[in-house]
Amino acid sequence: MAGDEAGRRRQRQSEILDSVVEKSRELLAGRVVVVTGGARGLGQTFGAALLRAGAKLAALDRSWAGSDGFRSDIEKQDSLALEADITDDAALDAAYSEVIGKFGTVDVLINNAGLVSETPFCAPRTREAARHPRH
Ligand SMILES: NC(=O)c1ccc[n+]([C@@H]2O[C@H](COP(=O)([O-])OP(=O)(O)OC[C@H]3O[C@@H](n4cnc5c(N)ncnc54)[C@H](O)[C@@H]3O)[C@@H](O)[C@H]2O)c1
Repeated sequence: MAGDEAGRRRQRQSEILDSVVEKSRELLAGRVVVVTGGARGLGQTFGAALLRAGAKLAALDRSWAGSDGFRSDIEKQDSLALEADITDDAALDAAYSEVIGKFGTVDVLINNAGLVSETPFCAPRTREAARHPRH
């Protein structure tokens, strides 16, 4: 089933990240790390690994629907789960103020929020462009 496959992928991602995090534990412990798109997907995997490494996490997402368990894990570990759309300047400023108010600084930004694009970076966008390559 698709859900099982996603679960296995998430588990594998966590194992890989844990091995990296283990090697970087001294660097990460106590650091303030902001992860955008932190409620689900890769952002959630990064955030969970960072918490295991002892980092202070500020996870931002435009929606926490369906991620209540992770949200409450974050809050139990003296970290922040914030609702903010990163394309909304006012929401981003408010989130920044909350992070600075709680932690006083930001050490690392993982700028992860986004959508997976199926368009190859160098693909011609139109038939016309395909007929007249620039090189
Ligand atoms: N999963 C992949 O195979 C893959 C491959 C290449 C690149 N990426 C990139 O990695 C990032 C995460 O991918 P994923 O697969 O975990 O995606 P995902 O859709 O599972 O998670 C993305 C998260 O970002 C949040 N988000 C999206 N737009 C936002 C916004 N404007 N403000 C705040 N939060 C926002 C979503 O709510 C969601 O929680 C994306 O930028 C994606 O382009 C992913």
